[in-house]
Formats: sequence, C-alpha cells, structure tokens
Amino acid sequence: MADPSSFASPDQFITKHLNLKFNVDFGSRVIRASASLTVRSLQDALTQLVLDTKDLTIKSVVVNGQKATFVLGQSHSFKGTPLEITLPFPLTRGQEIIVGICYETSPKSSALQWLTPEQTAGKKHPYLFSQCQATHCRTIVPCQDAPSVKFTYYCQVSIPKELVALMSAINDGDIPDPEDCKRKIYRFRQNVPIPSYLIALVVGAVEGRKLGPRTVVWTEKELMDASAYEFAETEKMLKHAEDLVGPYVWERYDLLILPPSFPYGGMENPCLTFVTPTVLAGDRSLASVIAHEISHSWTGNLVTNKTWEHFWLNEGHTVYLERRIDGLLYGEKFRQFKAVGGWKELQNSVNTFGATNPLTNLVPNLHEVDVDAAFSSVPYEKGFALLFYLEQLLGGPDIFLGFLKSYIQMFAYKSVVTEDWKKFLYTYFKDQADILDKVDWNGWMYTPGMPPVKPKYDMTLADACIALSKKWVQAKESDLNSFSDSDLKQLSSHQQIEFLTILLLEEPLPVSHVKRMQEVYNLNEVKNSEIRFRWLRLCIRAKWDEVIPLALKMATEQGRMKFTRPLYRDLYNLDKARDQAVSTFLQNRSSMHPVTAMLVAKDLNVDAS
Ligand code: BES
Ligand code: ZN
Repeated sequence: MADPSSFASPDQFITKHLNLKFNVDFGSRVIRASASLTVRSLQDALTQLVLDTKDLTIKSVVVNGQKATFVLGQSHSFKGTPLEITLPFPLTRGQEIIVGICYETSPKSSALQWLTPEQTAGKKHPYLFSQCQATHCRTIVPCQDAPSVKFTYYCQVSIPKELVALMSAINDGDIPDPEDCKRKIYRFRQNVPIPSYLIALVVGAVEGRKLGPRTVVWTEKELMDASAYEFAETEKMLKHAEDLVGPYVWERYDLLILPPSFPYGGMENPCLTFVTPTVLAGDRSLASVIAHEISHSWTGNLVTNKTWEHFWLNEGHTVYLERRIDGLLYGEKFRQFKAVGGWKELQNSVNTFGATNPLTNLVPNLHEVDVDAAFSSVPYEKGFALLFYLEQLLGGPDIFLGFLKSYIQMFAYKSVVTEDWKKFLYTYFKDQADILDKVDWNGWMYTPGMPPVKPKYDMTLADACIALSKKWVQAKESDLNSFSDSDLKQLSSHQQIEFLTILLLEEPLPVSHVKRMQEVYNLNEVKNSEIRFRWLRLCIRAKWDEVIPLALKMATEQGRMKFTRPLYRDLYNLDKARDQAVSTFLQNRSSMHPVTAMLVAKDLNVDAS
C-alpha cells in the first residue's frame, strides 16, 4: 500500500522508537536537534533507508554509532526531500538499528510558527508552537512521516528558563541546562506508539490550572479565567467518551489554548489537545471542539488512517463520537440537530469545491495532491453522514455503537484503510449482509458530490432555523418591518449558527435585507466566532460595503483557517474589496502561520514567496 504523501517505505522498514533532543533558539528561529530512530527492517538485504525531510539541514548520520553516508534526493514541492541513507552493513529481516541524525530546522519550517512577543497576549515573551498534521512533521524531524508507522518517543527540550515547554506526551521532569545557565531542559515521554503527525511542541509563557483529575488547562495567564470556565466540562466529556467506547489509555488529557493564529479549531495531540482561542465564546457553547478532540483519543490516535486518502476514517468516526457525546450531554434531539447541521456543512463544501470535484470523494486520490490544499469538511461530514445512515440502516444507535467499540478494539494501535473498515463492518454485521449489500458503496466512497442517499433527521430543533431563514429569503422590501429582535432571541446560539448556515446556502440576500438584519439583530456586535464569521460572509455576499473592514479585521485578528480562508476568499470575490484583501494579506503575510499564508496566497492568486 503506497503512501502518496511520503517518500519513506513502510513496507521495507518501520520506526519503533524516536529519541529526540531539541534546542529551541528563538533568536535565529531554528531548532538544533538530534534524532535517534530505532528502526526495524522488514526485509532481508536492505542497504538503504529513506526518510522524509523538508527544509532540514542534515549535519551527520550514524548507524549503530558508525558514520553513514547520506544524500538528499530530489526535492518535491510539497512532499519535501527524501533523505537517502546508505547503511554501513546490510540488514536482515527483523534486525533493529539505531539511526542517529544531527540536524537543524529552517526558520520557514511549515510545522512551526514563531511568534514575536507582540503576537502574544502577554506581549513580553516569544512563543513557538507546532502543527504537524498532516505532513509537516518532516520539517522538524527526519522521519517516516507516514501515518502507517507508529512509534514511541522521548524528547529533551532545551529552552529559555523563563518559558515553559509542553509536548504531546507525559512530562518527565525538568532540570537546569548544564550547558547554559539561562536555559532549562524539559523531558517528555510518550509510551503509546503514535504516528509522526501526533508529535507536538509548544514553548511559551504559559501557565497551568487544574480542571479535573487528569486535566490541566495551559494558556497565557491573560486567557486563564476564560479558558478554565469554557472547558470546565472536560472531565464529564471524557467520562462520557469512556462510557461509549472504553478506557482512555493516554493517562493525561491536558488542554492548551493557543494564540489566535493557531490554524485549526483543535488538534488531538496525545495527552495535550491544542485549541484555538476562537472557541472562547464565554458561554461554553463551542466546547464541542473538545468533545471532538477527546474522541480522537480512540478514532485517529488509537485507530489511525493508514494514508491521508483514508482521512475520513479519522474524522468521520470522530465527528460521530463527538455527536454521541453531544447527545449524552444535551439529549438526542440535539444530536439530531447537529447531524442536520453537518449535512448543511457538507452541502456548503460541495458547493465550494464543485459537485464534480474528485476531492469531494469520501476516499480521494491524493497522488501529487497537497494534503493541506485538499482539506475540507467532506471527510468529516460525508464520513459522518455514512455512519449515521448505517446506524439507521442496521438497527439504531445502541447497535451501531457495538460495532464501533469492536472496530476500535480490533484496530487499536494499528493503521487502517477503508477496505479494512468495510470488511470488519461486514464481519460484525454478518447476519445483515443483505442490508449492507444494498448500500451504494461506490456512490458513497468513490463518487464526487453529495452522498447517494440522505439519512433521516429529527427536525425538532432545526425547524425554527429553517423557518426564520425562509422568512428572510422570501421577504420583499415591504416585509422588512415584520422582523424584530425577538426572532433571534428565541434561538439558541447553536440555532443562530444554523440559521446563518442555511442563509449562506441560498442566493445572496439583497443589501436592504442584511442592513435590516443588522438593525433588528445587531449581529455586528456578536463575539461568538461561529456566528460572527457566518454573519460577515452573508454581508459580503450581499455586497454590503460597510462590513469590509469588519471582515478584514476578523480575517487578520485570528488565523483559524476555517474562518480566515473563506473571509479572504469572499472579500476577494467582491470587486470593491479585492485590492484591499490582497494588500491586507501581503502586509500580514510574514507574521502569519506558514500553512495559512501558503493557502491564502493560493486562494487570492498571489505568488508564493
Ligand atoms: N485533526 C483535526 C485538525 C487537522 C486536520 C489538522 C487535518 C491538520 C490537518 C482536528 O481534530 C479537527 O478536526 N479540528 C476541527 C474541530 C471541529 C471538527 C470540531 C477544526 O479544526 O475545526
Ligand atoms: Zn478531528
């Protein structure tokens, strides 16, 4: 099974353990490092090892302490550069060797964002965070950067002593750096085998506060109270997740609230979930991101997609579990409501990509495709829709959970492809093969656009959102007086999000309508990021010039790609705002997250720099 996103050959050899030393240099924005990989040969007579690298300077390679020759192969635009190591002796099958590599990262490493003090809440200290998923680990560690390979890791990180280092691992204590009295060495161990994309590091002036028996929330102190309040239900969610799918094996579940440029809503780094501060709504209403990342502790981190073509196995199952947790917290009607919302999100993504775009396949072909550019809600929501549809087909939530639990048991600590999943589904439901045979598998998995069938949804909580959006769509100018602030006040914030999502699927509203909407609902003042984001998009699409500055502000003050990319794109598509969108981006580019900057540049047809 070839991995189109990696140069390493997991069929020849696998990494069992990684021993790292990092020296984090904020002055030059590099990490000086050494990596020792314990590598097992799966074949006889292997004489060459290939590892993934990208923008790394390799200084030396030793194999079992013996100097080894190496070359950097031909560079690929997004895959990076294969590091080809000639072994000083041929390996026999099953033999293990230790490959030691001294190297340095580049200031433009796409896994890292180096923040100046001005870019932090505290304004006093620099900050560094990593984001390795999907294929960026190779920019900080020469490794088999392929999710089919799982290994344990140990890391010693030297950092300025006034800062704190955290990793996707268990803290193993810290000591003064014997080589520099201004520095400290933090140690970490990850004893559960993980794929490379789950390696994570943060260095900054962060503090911790205990939230529960296995949870500390880490953040700059300026955001501590807000964070501790927002995520107070974390332990409750963890318990619900355990009730659903079995014991939590990662020992700790800490949270890290990052600076606003963090490109994702959340990232399931083991032992330490990374979270965007844009979920700090003040009312816990966006905390389902935590339920989602908790769920990855089983689907993704234990059962892992073998290549990024099977990403839906990670995300579809995780969204399914996230919504089961929602169901336990807020009831079945709420789970159904979130499921409806997911279908709308899917429609939205299919519209943006185009209904014939092969990237809207549940299982896309990623040969010569940059995984970051292929990212969308499709694997999340088409994946969820398939599982939700199967749940209904096979006898309901309780029965389907039985399958999910044994799927996890069966494939924990392994990596899987869609065929493994499907085979197991047929084995588990062997008495219902006739039902499964009626599923249009090819339509679901290998056909672009919306799924071949729509599951059934309970519409109790969605109906009010649909009714209000219909009223706005159908309103004539003379009807605008019939709206009042109570329309929106009757909806929960979740329903308000849904109301706006539905409007975004419609033709743009006339500018008179969004102006009236502002008069009656005052959405310009809303802080909830999910509501604000949709509201601003709605206004730009209605060509309401007055919101251009507000949209630019939101696109630049935070960098979550889910918000920043569509906002920039919509502004670019509005004649009046295009130049401003491009110039604002160019002004901000050098301080943006590298991946976000690369993708916004593409979206705005600006040359890569
Ligand atoms: N693992 C993803 C984030 C990710 C995916 C990073 C692919 C890099 C490449 C994470 O679990 C996620 O899905 N986050 C969502 C949260 C949402 C679905 C609740 C996000 O970022 O919005
Ligand atoms: Zn996820």
